[in-house]
Amino acid sequence: MTVPGSPGQRPSRSRRSVLAVPGSNPRFLEKAQGLPADAVFLDLEDAVAPLAKERARDAVVEALNEGDWSGRTRVVRVNDWTTPWTYRDVITVVEGAGARLDALLLPKTQNAEQVKALDLLLTQVERTAGLEVGRIGIEAQIEDAGGLVNADTIAAASPRLESLVFGPADFMASINMKSLVVGEQPPGYPADAYHYILMRILMAARAHGLQAIDGPYLQIRNPDGFREVAGRSAALGFDGKWVLHPDQIAAANAIYSPSQEDYDHAELILDAYDYWTSAAGGARGAAMLGEEMIDEASRKMALVLAGKGRAAGL
Ligand code: GLV
Ligand code: MG
Repeated sequence: MTVPGSPGQRPSRSRRSVLAVPGSNPRFLEKAQGLPADAVFLDLEDAVAPLAKERARDAVVEALNEGDWSGRTRVVRVNDWTTPWTYRDVITVVEGAGARLDALLLPKTQNAEQVKALDLLLTQVERTAGLEVGRIGIEAQIEDAGGLVNADTIAAASPRLESLVFGPADFMASINMKSLVVGEQPPGYPADAYHYILMRILMAARAHGLQAIDGPYLQIRNPDGFREVAGRSAALGFDGKWVLHPDQIAAANAIYSPSQEDYDHAELILDAYDYWTSAAGGARGAAMLGEEMIDEASRKMALVLAGKGRAAGL
């Protein structure tokens, strides 16, 4: 069985909190190393001004090679394919620090061809640099209507894919949503304006065994707002969310982990199911746990939850 959130072919990496670090800011590159985020992405895209792009590449290579990122998933966000920078971002970062990089994040992904192009370029650079071919993963960021309608083919485009990532700020701009507060509901709409978008990304990701990651919440001094927005995607099944400030890390790690109560319950379901099915010599498909009936589907749900709980150290 492919367990959602742990891609079939790829190493299973934790991404409950994904820390955004501007590649052009040496102080942030240094500080990020001491923070307890599950993953970091060193940004060459929108957090870096056009004139600083080239310098940022070198700073990112140096930070990957010389920094202590142990225990963290290490990602670099390159620029998107409509810019002049993408190919050289990939070449510089992978030639310079490919062995210390887990994945590249491709922003504003429009279609499967863009993912395939990145895969091909990565393969060539890995080969030439003497790196293991195929080890570096790809994360595809869905940031506009075009990317969303192609989410299925994007998710299927390469065996390197590890996650689909929602980019709410660019997305809201692209569809003309009437709100300036990223992730919050546009005034005047009575329901959840993000439900369809989040579900669409989640379905495409899960159909292909990928993780689904929520994007940033820019009101960094509003912890309640962060919890509310993160709680929404976590409830649907998302695996994690970007964090822009150290204060958001602990909240994300907690929100995208099961509660202790749910985790304990999941372990009980697994134990009870094993007990009853082995007592019946494998001939029994459903069993009871107290007042609750459990079957193979309950076992699968419990397995996913228990997997997340064990990974979170519960
Ligand atoms: C992130 O890149 C976003 O656009 O929200
Ligand atoms: Mg964006």
